[in-house]
Amino acid sequence: MNLSLEGKSALICGSSQGIGYAIAEELALMGANCILLARNEENLKIAVSQLDISIRQMHSYHAIDFNDEAALKSLIQTIIAASPVHILVNNSGGPSAGPIVEATEDQFVKAFHQHLITSHILTKAVMEGMKNEGYGRIINIISTSVKIPLNNLGVSNTIRGAMASWAKTMSNELAQFGITVNNILPGLTRTQRLNSLVAAIAKKKSLPAEVVEKNMMAEVPAKRFGEAAEIAAVAAFLATPAAAYVNGTSIPVDGGRTGSI
Ligand SMILES: NC(=O)c1ccc[n+]([C@@H]2O[C@H](COP(=O)([O-])OP(=O)(O)OC[C@H]3O[C@@H](n4cnc5c(N)ncnc54)[C@H](OP(=O)(O)O)[C@@H]3O)[C@@H](O)[C@H]2O)c1
Repeated sequence: MNLSLEGKSALICGSSQGIGYAIAEELALMGANCILLARNEENLKIAVSQLDISIRQMHSYHAIDFNDEAALKSLIQTIIAASPVHILVNNSGGPSAGPIVEATEDQFVKAFHQHLITSHILTKAVMEGMKNEGYGRIINIISTSVKIPLNNLGVSNTIRGAMASWAKTMSNELAQFGITVNNILPGLTRTQRLNSLVAAIAKKKSLPAEVVEKNMMAEVPAKRFGEAAEIAAVAAFLATPAAAYVNGTSIPVDGGRTGSI
């Protein structure tokens, strides 16, 4: 099985921490040259410095806010002018929690831009290079809510559904060029995002965070949270030559939590 990413260039969004960083770590270990994107430059600098360089991989980063469309369009042109991108990981911070009946129009618009429009801008920019290289892997980090909407995540549920439909449509159109488009649906995964969701629930219910975590874990057949590295392992496989015929899928990595077949 060919799992080598030597000589491949990977652009990983939202990769200064959490799931995005864990994916960058794994792709680097498999030989890819990684370009990290997020807003906080200090965190990006530290993240890049920790990636594997044992086979002379070249890693870099750019500080960018995905809500700044003009800056994003300009940045991606600079990136593809330097080298084709073989692997694109679309990932960003999750929309804020809350019931959908309380969601404001602005929250939907912001999340739509930050997730879907960002992914679309980046995909359109990198796909010509992928076609020329005969190799493209587009991996979207979404959520299990594309299968079963999650309570108290109204805006997120809505945007994830849009992302999943966008991705499936893209996969139909790009497969003939050797480009695959797949979604990973993380379950409860130990990151900053999960910590802030736990804290918000604990505050709302006046419960200690440990009790909230215990209750959440009870809903997972594996009876524990996932680690970012466990999400990254699946993303990394999708990025490899071995995964060439996996296309248009949405893969839950959730310890069995999603209650659908
Ligand atoms: N963790 C879970 O349990 C879980 C479960 C299901 C789905 N997910 C989803 O998976 C994705 C990643 O989750 P995570 O837990 O790894 O989140 P995280 O720890 O909050 O990391 C988010 C990353 O995205 C970057 N980012 C956030 N907003 C950005 C923006 N406007 N522009 C550019 N970069 C931005 C952050 O860096 P900066 O702050 O420096 O920009 C950070 O690197 C999210 O969409 C999340 O909702 C997570």
